[in-house]
Amino acid sequence: MSDERPWWREAVVYQVYPRSFADADGDGQGDLPGLRSRLDHLAGLGVDAIWLSPFYPSPMADGGYDVADHQAIDPRYGTLDDFDALVAEAADRRIRVIVDLVPNHCSAEHPWFRQALAAPPGSPERERFIFRDEPNNWVSKFGGPAWTQVGDGQWYLHLFDAAQPDWNWRHPDVVALFERVLRFWLDRGVAGFRIDVANLLFKQAGLPDVTTAAPDSPWAPAESGLPYENQPELLELYRSWRKILDSYPGDRMTVAEMWFGESAQAGPYLTGDGLSQLFDFRLLPRPWSAAEFRDVVADSHALAARTGGSVPWVLGNHDVPRMVTRYGIDQDLVRRPTADVLLGRVAVDAELGARRARAATLLLLALPGAAYLYQGDELGLPEHLDIPDGERQDPMFERTGRAFIGRDGCRIPLPWSGETAPYGFSPSPVRTWLPQPDGWARLTAAAQHADPDSALNLHRRALAERRRHPALGAGDLTWLEHDDPDVLAFRRDPGFTLVMNFGPRPVPLPAHQAILLASGPLDGGTLPPDTTVWLETRP
Ligand code: NOJ
Repeated sequence: MSDERPWWREAVVYQVYPRSFADADGDGQGDLPGLRSRLDHLAGLGVDAIWLSPFYPSPMADGGYDVADHQAIDPRYGTLDDFDALVAEAADRRIRVIVDLVPNHCSAEHPWFRQALAAPPGSPERERFIFRDEPNNWVSKFGGPAWTQVGDGQWYLHLFDAAQPDWNWRHPDVVALFERVLRFWLDRGVAGFRIDVANLLFKQAGLPDVTTAAPDSPWAPAESGLPYENQPELLELYRSWRKILDSYPGDRMTVAEMWFGESAQAGPYLTGDGLSQLFDFRLLPRPWSAAEFRDVVADSHALAARTGGSVPWVLGNHDVPRMVTRYGIDQDLVRRPTADVLLGRVAVDAELGARRARAATLLLLALPGAAYLYQGDELGLPEHLDIPDGERQDPMFERTGRAFIGRDGCRIPLPWSGETAPYGFSPSPVRTWLPQPDGWARLTAAAQHADPDSALNLHRRALAERRRHPALGAGDLTWLEHDDPDVLAFRRDPGFTLVMNFGPRPVPLPAHQAILLASGPLDGGTLPPDTTVWLETRP
């Protein structure tokens, strides 16, 4: 691999959801000192970078994706000094820090929105947001209308919660604000930005009504263009941000969150002079099937090859049900929107889900390009399905009239050690901000550290092998056809073969010199159901 290749192209990035990672001050919520105290867990895992979900001052109407001040740390998480120390201590372990940039909307508590509310209709203060005398028919991605009326009769647009007013991206103050924000964090040494809902910022002039059917899940892309998606100005904006990033040393990057359906929607962003990376989330709603997985992988790989762009692989994040649970339910329910809606009410085979999640992880880490891991997936955590309604925090739960169970179940504070909650998450026995389930003692990092067959040790070995093996990381893949339609297999050169068995029957292993890694026990010369193996296959 040439030294000129930017570090992020094949990076493994670990997503930290700060409120649920580790709590140092004992208030039941994670914080930056807690994260600092656990950096050795991440170094031991072998990740290249961490991406931190928002830690900015926020009323927490949407878990911090409602930002009241983009250039500060919420006191619940610590201080800017803590942040600087985090960047330095992570760098000591060769771990870079990516922060979350939320440019589509802010918090209703942002000073500019408060000024807008205090100012009359037609005032310059209101121009920074999207105020109108009449709403159109747009709906919030969290359910309900996308407009809220204020005292003087005007309405403001919010594609998410009413506490998250959308910015007017055609206003120079907004453009200038985010340029300052980029520089503020770049100056503090961040390696890059994850850009929240990066396809939504600009709205079509005139705000025309939506005429297509609404997507059937909050995270599903529309079948055809919506007037608040993928407006042409975005490309120019991201080019201007790229110039800012490139004025700093060390390959600073962006990774865009966009739930695209067709790769044609993603292509224009991947030309190299704007965004660095664009997540491909299309594996998430796919059922457990070799053909379904291959379809996504092939399309995404072709997209990256065609554009020269980087389309990292994702199997989990703070917005979707954990994969151990996703793969443990009736797979007909995984496609949108049934998994979202029914997850709390369907039977889960946790053991099956855990086995498949391990197999899927070995696929993820053997594919060409970058991969993102979500905190807790390295521990094989399941979705917490039994959160009492009164303790749910996700605004989607109430905004959808409780039809959508919300995203709290994948945001449970991590279990670090011990037999009972808070499982070492907090230094003393407090109630964590979301309740942890009973029975997580065997899933703690400490318990898994000691168990050679644990999910944690599987991740460690996979990341170590990925670093060591010359075929992994950068490069291409060649599909290997197999008689059994439940098998997905490919070769990577030099000398690496992956075989993944989605089916109910064991399948024979191809000729190989060595078994590098397997997601579960192998049965003689065969690959059991729901298992992936990495083979050394020199010609
Ligand atoms: C995407 C984020 O990942 C999600 O958590 C958030 O609710 C929305 N964007 C709105 O910011």
